[in-house]
Amino acid sequence: MNVKNIIGLGTAAIGRPLYINIKQKDSSSKFSRQQFTDQAVQVLDRAYERGIRYFDTAPGYGIAEEILMDWLLTKNDPSIEVATKWGYTYVANFDPTAVVHEIKEHSLTRLKEQWRTSKNLFPFLHTYQIHSATLETGVLNNQEVIAFLGEIKKQHDIQIGLTTTGASQVEVIKKALDVAYEGTPLFEVFQCTFNILDQTLLTVAPKLRKQGRKLIIKEAMANGRIFPSNRFPHYELLHKTLERMANQHNVGIDAIALQFCAASVSPDWVLSGASRVAHIDENLLANNVALGQEQLSELSKHGTSPEAYWKERSALPWN
Ligand SMILES: NC(=O)c1ccc[n+]([C@@H]2O[C@H](COP(=O)([O-])OP(=O)(O)OC[C@H]3O[C@@H](n4cnc5c(N)ncnc54)[C@H](OP(=O)(O)O)[C@@H]3O)[C@@H](O)[C@H]2O)c1
Repeated sequence: MNVKNIIGLGTAAIGRPLYINIKQKDSSSKFSRQQFTDQAVQVLDRAYERGIRYFDTAPGYGIAEEILMDWLLTKNDPSIEVATKWGYTYVANFDPTAVVHEIKEHSLTRLKEQWRTSKNLFPFLHTYQIHSATLETGVLNNQEVIAFLGEIKKQHDIQIGLTTTGASQVEVIKKALDVAYEGTPLFEVFQCTFNILDQTLLTVAPKLRKQGRKLIIKEAMANGRIFPSNRFPHYELLHKTLERMANQHNVGIDAIALQFCAASVSPDWVLSGASRVAHIDENLLANNVALGQEQLSELSKHGTSPEAYWKERSALPWN
């Protein structure tokens, strides 16, 4: 039987050594760019070998775009789809003691500058996204930015999208649905946060589907918070439930969490944030899990308020 793959690969964790998540592996050893790149290529190779064809990247992910561009030169496969973004610049220079890791700037100048590099991802580039669109940056009201993105879409025949983060993501999505360029809706791809703890997307996902917009899920494992840990005793019941289901289906907790996202909002892809080969294999087991309605309802009871979810996320360290 052919199993449909629901997993795409996000490259945030393979492009920079530090990232916001609950790191289970020690990351204090000295950074070697060569070793880091080799490991990233191994992850890309494994993902490809196992059938993953959707890759998400960004200039804000350190050297992820560069690694991906080099790796793509070894591929002659038109079924590969790459999505990248603009709006964040990586500034930590692989320094484990860096205080500032990235700078967000939703200006036309930054857009033009990052586009110049990112367009080298053609012919694999399918989607160009605003990285973390929020109401605060005013990016959805910036007519110069909207026009530039509209022209990219026309000239290069690619999809324009945005990624959403934070307690107001639903508000941002609703606003983005109404943004048009020359009478046509601008945004075709919505990369949004959804997981067992943050289920706010449920209120707008049916509308996205109905309007034929693409939906990509990120942060499916809540930055690692779904895994048992002393740091989050308030999720003990969820962790026990996940362990029980994982045992029943003979997979890891990650596979249950990824399949929960797929079954709940029917996205085009759920992103895996794997930074090592073993996690690719484990994450892909999500494809083989069939969660029943009872299991889905049991998991969905663990949703938290968006305010609590994002407050906790913003307190997570870069590690
Ligand atoms: N647009 C945005 O603003 C934005 C924000 C976040 C993410 N993204 C995209 O989404 C992608 C996915 O990243 P994510 O943050 O959503 O990551 P994620 O996949 O939700 O979570 C990664 C966490 O899960 C852990 N993990 C994964 N598989 C595991 C396994 N089999 N066993 C144990 N632990 C496992 C990782 O552990 P380790 O730390 O040990 O690896 C890490 O702590 C990113 O690469 C990026 O492309 C976009």
